[in-house]
Amino acid sequence: MQILESQNNPIAEKSYTQEDWQGGYKSLTQEYDYWIDEIEGHIPLELQGTLFRNGPGLLDINGQRLHHPFDGDGMISRITFSNGRAHFRNRFVETDGYLAEKKAGKILYRGVFGTQKPGGWLANAFDFKIKHIANTNLIYWGQKLLALWEAAEPYLLNPQTLETLGKEYFNDVLSPGEAFSAHPRITPDGKLVNFAIKPGPTTTITIFELNSNGEIISKQNHNIPGFCFIHDFVITENYCIFFQNPVKFNPIPFALGIASAGQCIKVQKNQPTKIIVIPRVNSKAAQDGVKVLETKAGFIFHHVNAFECGNQIVIDSICYESLTEVEPNSDYRKTEFEANAPGQLWRFNLDLLDNKVQSQLIDNRSCEFPTIHPTNVGKPYRYLYAAAAHYPIGNAPLQAILKLDLESDTREIWSAAPRGFMGEPIFIPRPNSQQEDDGWVIALVYDAEYHRSDVVILNAQDFQKGTVAKLHLKHHIPYGLHGSFTPETFI
Ligand code: FE2
Repeated sequence: MQILESQNNPIAEKSYTQEDWQGGYKSLTQEYDYWIDEIEGHIPLELQGTLFRNGPGLLDINGQRLHHPFDGDGMISRITFSNGRAHFRNRFVETDGYLAEKKAGKILYRGVFGTQKPGGWLANAFDFKIKHIANTNLIYWGQKLLALWEAAEPYLLNPQTLETLGKEYFNDVLSPGEAFSAHPRITPDGKLVNFAIKPGPTTTITIFELNSNGEIISKQNHNIPGFCFIHDFVITENYCIFFQNPVKFNPIPFALGIASAGQCIKVQKNQPTKIIVIPRVNSKAAQDGVKVLETKAGFIFHHVNAFECGNQIVIDSICYESLTEVEPNSDYRKTEFEANAPGQLWRFNLDLLDNKVQSQLIDNRSCEFPTIHPTNVGKPYRYLYAAAAHYPIGNAPLQAILKLDLESDTREIWSAAPRGFMGEPIFIPRPNSQQEDDGWVIALVYDAEYHRSDVVILNAQDFQKGTVAKLHLKHHIPYGLHGSFTPETFI
């Protein structure tokens, strides 16, 4: 369904049913390898390359339900575009934990987001083992395909076969178990900047910079007072910026086997968010100290982008009024969207001279998974795209793609409602394009009508025409997290 933006869009009814939405949270155990032959429209010939996606493929282990999708084992989906055709392949990341549970046919590990071993609290008490699930993102960098999960080192995969090759330590710069976040940023001059969080009463933030060969060329540590739950960050030419949302961590229920580590994180609504501005190595600001600014409480999983403007840093982020906490006895499939605060797009202006922060709501619509033109990371930019709710107000599942023009303050929406549910969109520039929005927006959409997923391709300059192509897969892909595109083709 395609709709045009209207400020007077009355919400008479829901744009979805809970039952349809739940269908995307079924495990996919089978691994496929095929050319996609059911296609509406035409795949552009100029669209050459590989879209990699990652996300939880299993929502249960042999019928034992996981408490939260974030605890699910990482499953890679690869869609390769070549000469107007598209090939699909999926494969699980064969982590040690995935293989052990597959062999045992039951849950062997506690999950960060609430999954417990069968047998009640006694079976879980004082078990602090973490299962590396490698389920959050996937990047192809320095000719290495890396499955990322924020609490540990990446898993290295073969991009041709998606076979798991082992853990990646970047020539021993990482030590076993050392974190490497799932949200790296790639600079316009071809560096990959990433971070790691080692939480505690004092949290260590580590910043890595990698060259285009995939080698870590710098690694710097910063100690920050207090517990941090930081999932994403932003960079500019001279800075890395982190939002330390106000949370506290009480480990006792985790230790006693009553709750998972994630369930022990509690929001402190009366405390401010701290914005930590760390100069990048070898930048003009390298000799400056770390600055900490404050803004209102709230919670941010994902930022869109940031850029410098004189003495100011501008940061665009998806901000929630509060973090929705995962309760031990809750069922995520029964989430009441309307009862939770939506994620909304905000702009933060940081004044580095007087240490003041101004914030402004840019758009009411519930949205997540923002994406921009890849060469504008850390620079001023005009267009952003995000998965969004069908209606412009209220909280609801992601069913649409929003295009926002920050310059003209106009919006376009392409919606898959009522029976389609949207994954993270990726913007792919057309080769040799000159305009910022000249390219395609590609996303996976779960279609509840057929219990299968579609790859949808939109012309980013013309949402009103609908999809350029819609590729029907032979099966569904459980709702995923993040992914990336490379112009290289792997089949
Ligand atoms: Fe994320």
